[in-house]
Amino acid sequence: MSNRQKVLITGGHGQLATDLTQVFNKADAVALSHEQLDVSQLHDVEAALQHYKPNMVINTAAFTDVDRCEDHVTEARSINSGGPENLVAAAKRTNTRVLQISTDYVFDGTLERPYIESDDTNPQSTYGRTKLEGEQAMREQDLIVRTSWLCGSHGSNILKTIVGLAQSGHPMKFVNDQVGHPSFTRDIAITIKQLVEIEARGTFHVTNQGPVSWYEFAQTILELMGRPSRQVSPITTEQLDPPRPASRPANSVLNNKALVDIGLTPPPDFRESLPLLLKELCD
Ligand SMILES: NC(=O)c1ccc[n+]([C@@H]2O[C@H](COP(=O)([O-])OP(=O)(O)OC[C@H]3O[C@@H](n4cnc5c(N)ncnc54)[C@H](OP(=O)(O)O)[C@@H]3O)[C@@H](O)[C@H]2O)c1
Repeated sequence: MSNRQKVLITGGHGQLATDLTQVFNKADAVALSHEQLDVSQLHDVEAALQHYKPNMVINTAAFTDVDRCEDHVTEARSINSGGPENLVAAAKRTNTRVLQISTDYVFDGTLERPYIESDDTNPQSTYGRTKLEGEQAMREQDLIVRTSWLCGSHGSNILKTIVGLAQSGHPMKFVNDQVGHPSFTRDIAITIKQLVEIEARGTFHVTNQGPVSWYEFAQTILELMGRPSRQVSPITTEQLDPPRPASRPANSVLNNKALVDIGLTPPPDFRESLPLLLKELCD
């Protein structure tokens, strides 16, 4: 049975936040953009929670430029760690729960099977370390949702980059040694709403299914767009020129075990949702 919850969504103009806002009933959700609420400012966070008195804050706000985080450690920490810490501090006064959106980057990517929620974390980048600190700020009653490889129709993401390159006929190179679950913000938002409604607590992996490398993901997109798959060539991470400042997990595959354990159906295989999203992007 669904239990309507009043939610406040931070980072409201981001790609996941935009779909979350659409998935919740209008009367139940308020989304605040970065301009309206800076999660790194405790006083502003307290004022927002006092004003809206939500049952749940969904914190999508983050410094998401993984490579820039390496050179902007203080800023990354104040948003990715300080933001969740401020939300929890303010939530204690308003009896609000917090849902922290986290990432596959909390793992080092060396495991030879998909990661389950209880596997050891070992982030290898500033982004991953600061996002893990954000997880560690959560209390027993809060919720952590780790997702990966997010793409949606709002904001910029790799899917949009591939579509643009495919349409221009430009040759592309993608790594074939980083594997993950591409995840679509609309599907992820639907599962997050279910978790909020059943008042779940703890850590959940929420991704679409179907592990692929970035190269295989690009190939799948090209095939669906009716473009020759030879437009993309595989390379290794070592061959990336210039090399990326932040280390990426080779294995980013998140097993959605905890969702299944509580009887929820994980988001579908990415190949099921991709055609619809491509149609939306290409029309
Ligand atoms: N993208 C991925 O592949 C991926 C994978 C796994 C997990 N995640 C996590 O999923 C969440 C959503 O990601 P996304 O791809 O939707 O990100 P996104 O599109 O980059 O959105 C993040 C939003 O946070 C806002 N923001 C930045 N600093 C803020 C601050 N101090 N206070 C309030 N808002 C702030 C940004 O606003 P401005 O742009 O105006 O600064 C932006 O609107 C993030 O927590 C991210 O760490 C993402």
